[in-house]
Amino acid sequence: MIIAFAGQKGGIGKSTTAIAVAAAAHDRGMRVLLVDADPQGTARTWADVAGEAGHSTPTVVAMGATMHKAGQLASIAQAYDLTVIDCPPRHGDVQRSALMVADVVVLPSGPSAADAWALAASIEVVQEARVLREELVALVLITRKQGRTALAKSARRVLESSGFPVLKAELGYRVAYQEAIACGRGVTTHAPRDAAAAEITSLIAELETYAHGQEESRRFVAQAAAAG
Ligand SMILES: Nc1ncnc2c1ncn2[C@@H]1O[C@H](COP(=O)(O)OP(=O)(O)OP(=O)(O)O)[C@@H](O)[C@H]1O
Ligand SMILES: [Mg+2]
Repeated sequence: MIIAFAGQKGGIGKSTTAIAVAAAAHDRGMRVLLVDADPQGTARTWADVAGEAGHSTPTVVAMGATMHKAGQLASIAQAYDLTVIDCPPRHGDVQRSALMVADVVVLPSGPSAADAWALAASIEVVQEARVLREELVALVLITRKQGRTALAKSARRVLESSGFPVLKAELGYRVAYQEAIACGRGVTTHAPRDAAAAEITSLIAELETYAHGQEESRRFVAQAAAAG
């Protein structure tokens, strides 16, 4: 299972969410590969901080615009239960490469209507990738939400009209996410009683249902092919 966190806009929570998900799955005993596809190196720096503090982390590797090629990420990912790709902002070759190899792409979005509108460009790029890869699942994630505002509700409506499903799990704007990154941990182990930990747990559970659905449809296609 390969999940890419992508999107054109900078600073929307791609790295924070990718790291939180990868770390939570790792701390749960899964074999996790975290691919740092951003030259800014957020995930690598996080892993360095973790290493210095003696915290165990997923395997972190840096990869770029060739990750979709034969013998690259798809072969490495086979040794892991979960692979998480943290994409750079903007739609360059790196993000395109990630979309060619991922099973699921998650597009984080802020909770305002303006954030939802800004997602349009990312949606277009994912649609293009889906022309080549029908099986690519694209999901929108509302993140950095502040309070139970009516604003978030209307953003959900705008996001839903994008044509991609909007994940039920939503992430709030919470200091725990920032603190966990700063000290080289996953938020679920750093602050297990914080609402952030519950949000990440729900997000993973929901992503697992999509992964499961994909596995089932792959099996169905294989069976249908075998049956002629
Ligand atoms: N749910 C959240 N709650 C609070 N702060 C958050 C949350 N998600 C992200 N942030 C903060 O927002 C800023 C940007 O987040 P992050 O680095 O994850 O975004 P990004 O999309 O990876 O950015 P870039 O496009 O530059 O790679 C960081 O300061 C991060 O701590
Ligand atoms: Mg980032």
